[in-house]
Amino acid sequence: MKEEKTVKLAYHDPGFVTQKFILNVLARMNRELGANFEISNFELEIDLKHSDDEDVGKIQLFIKSLQNQKYFLEYFFLIENYFRFEIHGKEFFLSKNERIHIEDSHKFQKFEIDMIAQSTCFFVEDQWLDQEKKYTLNTFAPFKPNIEISDVLSMIREGWGFADYLFECVITPEALQESPIQLRHPFIFYLGHLCAFEKNQIFKYLMKKKSDTEAFDELFERGIDPLVDNPSKCHKHSAEINYIGWPDLKDLLIYRDKTRKMIEENLKEVLLHTTKLMAQKGRVFTMVHEHTMMHVETLLYMIQELDPQFKQKISLEKLNYDFGKVYIL
Ligand SMILES: [Fe+2]
Repeated sequence: MKEEKTVKLAYHDPGFVTQKFILNVLARMNRELGANFEISNFELEIDLKHSDDEDVGKIQLFIKSLQNQKYFLEYFFLIENYFRFEIHGKEFFLSKNERIHIEDSHKFQKFEIDMIAQSTCFFVEDQWLDQEKKYTLNTFAPFKPNIEISDVLSMIREGWGFADYLFECVITPEALQESPIQLRHPFIFYLGHLCAFEKNQIFKYLMKKKSDTEAFDELFERGIDPLVDNPSKCHKHSAEINYIGWPDLKDLLIYRDKTRKMIEENLKEVLLHTTKLMAQKGRVFTMVHEHTMMHVETLLYMIQELDPQFKQKISLEKLNYDFGKVYIL
């Protein structure tokens, strides 16, 4: 947190450098989106939120309209339900003193930085301070320096628990062949993909181990990535979009369990493989866990679009203990 005088100088300086920088967004919109903002009709305004000891804890930045005015956008994009719509020609109105909220900037004391780290299951790994000890740069790490195998294990098991819950307790077995979102593989692909990603990243790329499940490692290596600029097209991917010969669920579950057992049994060896950057501090495990959690989110989007006949009635009793402890309470 900082004194008010310092903050004001940083966010709304007398030379109007920050204002010019902030209003430049309107100039860009004029240039790139065919807008017609008259920039002199706007100014920067900041709100300072004080904490108990009167230091500033939060700064909010606004672009304020200095008069009633209307403006026009030649085209812009509207993102809704994960689809991007291109809109052509729309008029907007702003009344005098109306503000467009563009930024929140938060300031923290050292103990608050530690609290943020802890509340998100991270630790402050390194911290650098300026000479006056007013500014700090921090790196957060998921594990303490003396990394515990049990911490890594509980992290990756948590991801497995989430994924299993969706596959086993939220969708029906018949749903596995469904692909409710256009340009995404059916659910069954993701069952294999989560394991293939772990297997490839940990054992193929990092540990350089030969695999006895190469066909699955390859088939499930990559999902479908629509091109950002043209979502009707995809990046290159290992499995065909209209692939119909997906392996049996039984074989996939064997693949999954075998991969998980391999990870659990080799965890220590991987962590000791410290000449490789991705092994240090358990990075590869953090990465595969993040990948699993990212797909849990993707699967939820798919489940949202799934026909109700393919969904099970959610039962909280089926949630395992850790899952309930961390996320339901
Ligand atoms: Fe993926």
